[in-house]
Amino acid sequence: MLAGIPKETAPRERRVAATPDSVKRLLAMGFEVRVEPEAGAAAGYTDAAYEEAGAAIDPEVLEAADLVLAVQTPAVARLKRGAMLAGLLSPFDDEDRRAAFAVGGVEAFAMELMPRITRAQAMDALSSQSNLAGYAAVIRAADLFGRAFPMMVTAAGTIAPARVLVLGAGVAGLQAIATARRLGAVVSAMDVRPAAREQVESLGASFVEVDHKQPSLAEDESGYAREMGEDYKREQAGKLAETLARTNIVVTTALIPGRPAPRLLSAGMVRAMPPGSVVVDLAVSQGGNCELSRADQIVEEAGVFILGDSDLPSSVAQDASALYARNLTAFTELLVDKDRSVLAPDYNDPIVAATALNPKETADG
Ligand code: NAI
Repeated sequence: MLAGIPKETAPRERRVAATPDSVKRLLAMGFEVRVEPEAGAAAGYTDAAYEEAGAAIDPEVLEAADLVLAVQTPAVARLKRGAMLAGLLSPFDDEDRRAAFAVGGVEAFAMELMPRITRAQAMDALSSQSNLAGYAAVIRAADLFGRAFPMMVTAAGTIAPARVLVLGAGVAGLQAIATARRLGAVVSAMDVRPAAREQVESLGASFVEVDHKQPSLAEDESGYAREMGEDYKREQAGKLAETLARTNIVVTTALIPGRPAPRLLSAGMVRAMPPGSVVVDLAVSQGGNCELSRADQIVEEAGVFILGDSDLPSSVAQDASALYARNLTAFTELLVDKDRSVLAPDYNDPIVAATALNPKETADG
């Protein structure tokens, strides 16, 4: 069994799918491991460190590997027929790519489709990456904001604390709240799921409640948010407008799986914010929570900066890669028949079944 780690090619992608530590874990599972030259360079992992861990450096790794572990989708045409691929493969937004996997006979596993069950927690790449994205969003906001975050009482006068509003209190949002609180901001948050209130309050932030006729409809059976009706959207927009007038930083993280991100901040709402305010939109890859967000740009509108950063985990690439590589090695355990040292995924396993884009029968055509 040969596991291959490519050098990522997507623009601005700095992460890598294996670290020297995860290479050792793959070797212990019975894999031979090869890493493309410089694959970890942007995340701070050198070729020498991979070699020391027991991997070989190989420019032809994609062509040779039985199992490719990647961050984003590599050049599918380079993979050999019958190869397996696990990565963040954007399963919702690229039908052509799914077709390419089937044509190339590649068995692909999308880490985004990992079920949110206890047994899969160690493999939950969306959580590991969202958590760091929430952290990085606040750091970016603090950098763009022309003022300090904490309250300071000095001989020259008192500085008021920054007011941060987090929209969407899932994994990224909760880490954004925690990070903004650590920096000394006064934080509030909003989410459609009623269960979020307790988590928000336990981090020392206040929960902005939207009057809601049927709170049970906000959440599906997997714990994800649903798209809300017009009444809710109107109520929420009213509450937001009130809160934004006294907010300096907004971090938006609201997502609905497989759907465009809900539009929560209109251009008018942004213009009503105090000049110098900052909006960081983590949902920009799914269309954005703010009407004005543009992917990987800083837009300025009426003195407010809107940052649509689609690759925040890459700004902390070393940690993001380490956590992601652990997610992948935990998942790889499910693809291997250890007794026979062969790749033999069990499609009856709910985790394998949920993440497989084209189970073997389909891949064989
Ligand atoms: P996500 O990334 O899909 O969405 C982010 C947040 O936006 C969610 O909290 C969602 O409720 C909120 N949201 C969606 N539409 C909104 C709107 N119109 N207005 C305001 N907020 C809106 O969510 P994430 O972070 O992946 O978490 C989803 C759920 O899964 C949460 O309940 C989380 O606690 C749970 N979870 C469970 C895990 C497990 O292993 N049991 C692991 C990770 C998350």
